[in-house]
Amino acid sequence: MSDQAIRLVVLVSGSGTNLQSLLDAVADESYGAVIVAVGADRDGIEGLARAERAGVPTFVERVRDHSDRAAWDEAIAARIAAHKPDLVICAGFMRILGAPTLSAFPVVNTHPALLPAFPGAHGVRDALAYGVRVTGCTVMFADAGVDTGPIIAQETVRVYDGDDEDTLHERIKTVERGLLVETVGRMAREGWTVTGRNVRLGSRTRGDGEPGRTTK
Ligand code: GAR
Repeated sequence: MSDQAIRLVVLVSGSGTNLQSLLDAVADESYGAVIVAVGADRDGIEGLARAERAGVPTFVERVRDHSDRAAWDEAIAARIAAHKPDLVICAGFMRILGAPTLSAFPVVNTHPALLPAFPGAHGVRDALAYGVRVTGCTVMFADAGVDTGPIIAQETVRVYDGDDEDTLHERIKTVERGLLVETVGRMAREGWTVTGRNVRLGSRTRGDGEPGRTTK
């Protein structure tokens, strides 16, 4: 591991193809980041198996094992904090993180639509139902809302006649994986600045120990 590499905890809820792209990217030391743990809100998923095959530590924190959502919020924040991440990545993590995590770490999320259009758990289905001809994917910071945080990067994807949710989502995910890897890599190597809703990548002085910065 390079001294300069930032520490990522990646959270997943499903197949983890975005996680796989990150696992592949961090294998090259020049990427600028390492994945120190993969967490999930359920067990038995391919995302966790991908992490195990890569030799990355995993943890599972299920909502139903806690008395209420606030207790889960505290528990998952503690599991994440144990790995001392510089950045948390939600890569198909289908839960809203609470204040204990959001106040402790910068959290990046990825979404299969062009926000602010079609937020939520069914972004692809909702875009198709609306009849848009262009959709895409968004990498953004997570905040307390549903896909409402400052946007970091976006890419477009055309909708074809005859697309269904599966064909369109697969085409979006092909673009999304590349965008997530590129964006997280730039954040790791170059840092970022958030001013209001505007995110700018770059301006990091490597070695200053500060992977990102938020100004009002
Ligand atoms: C991705 O398309 C991601 O954007 C989406 O789940 C998929 C996960 O795929 N997340 C959301 O819809 C969150 N609102 P993967 O498990 O193969 O990486």
